[in-house]
Amino acid sequence: MLLKNTSTRFGHISVLIHWLVAIAVYGMFALGLWMVTLSYYDTWYHRAPELHKSIGVCLFIIMAIRVIWRFISPPPKPLASYSHFTRISSKLMHFALYIALFGILASGYLISTAEGGSISLFGWFDIPAILTEQGLQADTAGVVHLYLAWILVVFSLFHALAALKHHFIDKDSTLTRMLGFKSDTK
Ligand code: HEM
Ligand code: HEM
Repeated sequence: MLLKNTSTRFGHISVLIHWLVAIAVYGMFALGLWMVTLSYYDTWYHRAPELHKSIGVCLFIIMAIRVIWRFISPPPKPLASYSHFTRISSKLMHFALYIALFGILASGYLISTAEGGSISLFGWFDIPAILTEQGLQADTAGVVHLYLAWILVVFSLFHALAALKHHFIDKDSTLTRMLGFKSDTK
């Protein structure tokens, strides 16, 4: 078991966090789109948003750990075969994914606490409201939340396509090292 990243490999903590977040994001996207279509008499009308918010809070905690972990254990060096364009564009894409994710988490928090209510984490404890009643807070944050969710999902699909291109066309170890395998020199 390799916990920390090395200069050539992603450690298992980074790999686990990467895939956990990816699954949570796609799940939250589907859950979000579905829950806003529910009617008041649906059994999931209250349950689905509670679940969406609780998972969202967990995601925020995981993302905070991810950022701290990135400082403790920096990602491996880019493969020697990468072009200048690949190096720059992948950095920009990773940065954009981080920004979109934190933007979604923040706007989700602002929608949920706009009326001054707290967010319950699976009923275990409450996260209080900080900023409330800022004009059209819930509406504005709602629009930002929806747009950022689409941006994140579309960008992450381009990001996934790039990973698949590296795997199947360039035949390098970009994808396999994010799956926790050893990196070869290519
Ligand atoms: C990656 C994480 C997340 C994703 C992908 C996501 C995605 C979505 C989507 C697609 C919708 C439907 C929006 C619409 O059609 O109007 C939605 C709604 C919502 N989300 Fe999230 N969300 C995330 C995190 C969060 C968090 C952390 C919270 C709060 C703590 C939250 C609170 C809400 C609320 C309250 C709504 C309902 C908005 C409304 O009624 O218009 N979300 N989310
Ligand atoms: C919402 C979904 C996703 C997000 C937010 C995301 C985010 C990221 C981020 C931020 C990195 C940079 C390393 C880090 O800071 O941890 C990364 C690396 C990577 N991701 Fe994703 N990712 C997502 C989905 C996917 C999918 C679906 C695939 C493949 C099918 C994939 C493949 C990779 C690979 C191969 C790397 C390593 C790239 C390198 O070594 O430069 N990701 N991802």
